[in-house]
Amino acid sequence: MEVLRYRPEEEAEPTWESFEVPVHPEWMVLDGLNHIKDQLDGTLSYRWACRMGVCGSCGMMVNGRPVLTCATYLESLLPGPLRIEPLSGFPVIRDLVGDITDFMGKLSSVKPWIVRDTEKPVEDGEYLQTPEELAEYKQYSMCINCMLCYAACPVYQIEPEFIGPAAIALAQRYNMDSRDEGAQERMDVLAQHEGIWGCTLVGECSEVCPKKVDPAGAIQRYKVSASVDFFKSVLMPWGER
Ligand code: FES
Repeated sequence: MEVLRYRPEEEAEPTWESFEVPVHPEWMVLDGLNHIKDQLDGTLSYRWACRMGVCGSCGMMVNGRPVLTCATYLESLLPGPLRIEPLSGFPVIRDLVGDITDFMGKLSSVKPWIVRDTEKPVEDGEYLQTPEELAEYKQYSMCINCMLCYAACPVYQIEPEFIGPAAIALAQRYNMDSRDEGAQERMDVLAQHEGIWGCTLVGECSEVCPKKVDPAGAIQRYKVSASVDFFKSVLMPWGER
């Protein structure tokens, strides 16, 4: 495995370091990295937590493609060497660890939670939802915030202000939730140039998504809603939006 090493506070630029890693049929790329850290060089830095494709923290570029390293078999990439780099588009803190502050800010800007104009009293019970209403947004709720879609997005790589695929897909997840009333607030953020209109529909985000969330589809649906909203505001300035 060839791993990109970098300590920005001490080194002028990243350098590649090679390690010999055994291959076992059940090993994932993450197992290879853990072998390096446990047996060869304990200073190697990278993120992971669940090891089962749920937490979204182990995303890295493997042979130039963003993947979850805990869900990618080493054997599927033979013969080596494998080239492991941090996710594209994020400043490196150390080795394979990227700074995700920008993503976290963008994510919270679209209010990825249920927004209500008024909350009903607890004693009135739950907000009920039919299976059909759940099915409307369920696909978008599968996002694990792994940021592979940002690393794959050519727009985000050259235009870091672009709010990005996962934030838009999660906004859509709440907009389509029958219990939510925050669509207009989110639209105010997403209708900016750096919002949905920054997307040029390359579709790589949906290609690399490990949960089949289809952020590209969410962005196109949002563009349609924003256009309808715009024309309604022009044709019916007195309201009914
Ligand atoms: Fe949690 Fe890979 S370690 S998704």
